[in-house]
Amino acid sequence: MDKDLLVKTAEGMTARGKGILAADESAGTIKRRFDAINVESTADTRRDYREFMFRSKEAMKKHISGVILYDETIRQKARDGTPLVKLIEQSGSIPGIKVDAGVKPMQRYPGEVYTEGLDGLGKRLEEYFALGARFAKWRAVIDIGSGFPTYACIKTNAHALARYAALCQENNIVPIVEPEVLMDGDHTIERCLEVTEAVLKALYAELYEARVFLEGTVLKPNMIVPGKKSGKKASPAEVAALTVKLFKHCVPVAVPGIAFLSGGQADVEATANLNAINGHAMPWAVTFSYGRALQAAPQKAWGGKAGNVPTAQAAFTHRARMNGLAAKGAWKKELETM
Ligand code: 13P
Repeated sequence: MDKDLLVKTAEGMTARGKGILAADESAGTIKRRFDAINVESTADTRRDYREFMFRSKEAMKKHISGVILYDETIRQKARDGTPLVKLIEQSGSIPGIKVDAGVKPMQRYPGEVYTEGLDGLGKRLEEYFALGARFAKWRAVIDIGSGFPTYACIKTNAHALARYAALCQENNIVPIVEPEVLMDGDHTIERCLEVTEAVLKALYAELYEARVFLEGTVLKPNMIVPGKKSGKKASPAEVAALTVKLFKHCVPVAVPGIAFLSGGQADVEATANLNAINGHAMPWAVTFSYGRALQAAPQKAWGGKAGNVPTAQAAFTHRARMNGLAAKGAWKKELETM
């Protein structure tokens, strides 16, 4: 394990005013996103789509510290034959790779899931490092509903995250540790707080037992928000106060950075919440690792047409810039008018 390299990578991923582009949608997820804009999902359309984001010079150079890729993408070449990984590196951003194999139902725990992908992971990490990946992502999913999450689900997922993190570090790859408490339910913000606390406490206990080097990790958590179906909205000030207070109780100071997921929040909502969080004094670098909140606007503007690429790149650059400002607590609503 090369600790210096891990620390350098983790610091690069959470560099001030920059954040991570989560472009690691699985084949199924990207198909759903393309269906919504009437674009057929083929290897070429997926390449064209991702290529225009990675070629958005201003966004990539100034606001995107790293890009999470899917297995197909890390092996793909741009139209002119340049590997997509090279485009990312040339912009000064760090390539990363999603390595989990998705979720499976937990037997005897109805409604709950655990994340698969540990089998053969060491070998895959070795190959991904050779392909240019310097960090990885593993997403655990915790849902909130009537009677769950159970402790069994939290423990199973936290254990897998710790095993994954240790394997990554053996291969000099920084693990993004992502325990996502979903915001899909009808729960209150207090319930989200309570469940996220249990998840983070279990996670850091497992990381400790697996002897994970915390300085060489990045946490990718959910913010503390009410469930989408609750009909309630919390203000950015409220989200920030609860999130920061909880994280101070749960996340060791040795962790260099926290990069939030957007989780289904609207674009500007995800930006405003991150900005409010960064209005607090915290011991970690706190930024974004957004998928939907960075890509919804450019996807819509693109619509699969080459002629729309400049407008789509402008939409991507705008969201990257807004979130880059929010990562410094310097975003203002007035800046949203493009
Ligand atoms: P969202 O920002 O769309 O939640 O995606 C981030 C991600 O990578 C989830 O694993």
